[in-house]
Amino acid sequence: MNNSSEHPNLSGHRVLVPGGTGAVGEGIVRRYLAAGADVLVPTRSQERSDEFRALLGEIATEHLHLVVHDYTTFAGAQDLATQMVARLGGIDDVVAPIGGWWAGKRLWEIDEHDWQSAFVALATTHMAVARAAVPRLSAGGTYTVILGASATWPVPTSGLVSMEQAAVLMMHQVLVAELDGASRAFALVLGPVSTRAVTGESGWVTADQVGLIAAGLSADTAITGQAIRMTEPTEIAAALTLVTTAVPV
Ligand SMILES: NC(=O)c1ccc[n+]([C@@H]2O[C@H](COP(=O)([O-])OP(=O)(O)OC[C@H]3O[C@@H](n4cnc5c(N)ncnc54)[C@H](OP(=O)(O)O)[C@@H]3O)[C@@H](O)[C@H]2O)c1
Repeated sequence: MNNSSEHPNLSGHRVLVPGGTGAVGEGIVRRYLAAGADVLVPTRSQERSDEFRALLGEIATEHLHLVVHDYTTFAGAQDLATQMVARLGGIDDVVAPIGGWWAGKRLWEIDEHDWQSAFVALATTHMAVARAAVPRLSAGGTYTVILGASATWPVPTSGLVSMEQAAVLMMHQVLVAELDGASRAFALVLGPVSTRAVTGESGWVTADQVGLIAAGLSADTAITGQAIRMTEPTEIAAALTLVTTAVPV
């Protein structure tokens, strides 16, 4: 397994992380910044922007571009991608840890508000960001969605999460087929994650490891687009091994 203190060299990479202010997003943002990339993190509120900058502390250098922007609509995401190209000159990598957990109702108890917020809003945001960013991705660049294993497994009373994550997993598969190698699409399918919000247990993947894998995939252009599961220790070890050429041991 890699030494987690090592970083690939992503100096000059321009990376978009929508959802980067979140618990998993933080590990991703930290790893890309540590690897020398320029990282643009949009967030929907100034308060969250301020909190996130304070949380990152010293690593929030001039390479961190925190912008208050609503990227959850087709028009908003299109505007964000245009602004990123104008500001940084292009988009090399996108990592999308958008949205969190939802629970509490069986399918037949769900009302229209639940459906709109836990399914429609999140699926729309993923689609909006993908359609805005993919045509602007550099050759060999990466588009990585962050998902839970609930995308492939029903969790009673959290069905909306499974349905939305399954839709995004299929979006990833369609991207792999449609990109045909021009850029690389990945899905990181995670079990429970140790984050700033939940310490978790030994054997859980950490937000830091998720960032390490995403950054390693960006750095190693020989790795083709695919779904990578990290739901238990052997899968986490295999994912870390996959990126060893990009991340020195
Ligand atoms: N945490 C885990 O244990 C875990 C386990 C497996 C998989 N995952 C997956 O990892 C991804 C991120 O999870 P997380 O735990 O980091 O979630 P989180 O802490 O809630 O962060 C999600 C981020 O998504 C952004 N977002 C954009 N549109 C949103 C919307 N309509 N509703 C809510 N958030 C929205 C928010 O950013 P702004 O408000 O700043 O715009 C927020 O910071 C999800 O796909 C989740 O399924 C997480």
